[in-house]
Amino acid sequence: MVKLTEDMKDVMEKTRGYAIATCTKNGIPNVVPIHFIKILSDDEIMMADIFMKKSFENIQQNPVMAISVWDWDVKPRKGYQFKGIPRIETSGKIYDMAVEMVKAEKPDLTAKSAIVVKITDIFVTTPGPDAGKNVEEIS
Ligand SMILES: Cc1cc2nc3c(=O)[nH]c(=O)nc-3n(C[C@H](O)[C@H](O)[C@H](O)COP(=O)(O)O)c2cc1C
Repeated sequence: MVKLTEDMKDVMEKTRGYAIATCTKNGIPNVVPIHFIKILSDDEIMMADIFMKKSFENIQQNPVMAISVWDWDVKPRKGYQFKGIPRIETSGKIYDMAVEMVKAEKPDLTAKSAIVVKITDIFVTTPGPDAGKNVEEIS
């Protein structure tokens, strides 16, 4: 079972943005930058959907996602890639959290939905001998 480590959480808390990738059911990829992401638990994260169009359609038709996050401020640079299964929430506690997260920083914006991603695999992207490895291979 995958688990976000303190080191991964630290990278996520420090970052100002993530790259999130989705895919149509025919395999056409789509990658966009996302700022509003919150860690929900050791294996779930949530992102606020404010402007998503292709990403949202892709999640509906092909619920798979890859998320890349990195820390530019440490040397050597450090990064992780998360793969997981997204689900869409448009009401309830987690959706309300997404709305609040966005409003706290950008009062004029409203989250249309919360995308909750259950993380299934974690890979290292830190440059070096472990780059690309599943964390389970190296722990
Ligand atoms: C720096 C940056 C941060 C962004 N953060 C968010 C975000 O937190 N939530 C969101 O829905 N869109 C965000 N966007 C917009 C998305 O990247 C993207 O443009 C939007 O989701 C539409 O793309 P799509 O149709 O491929 O999904 C951000 C864009 C930039 C440039």
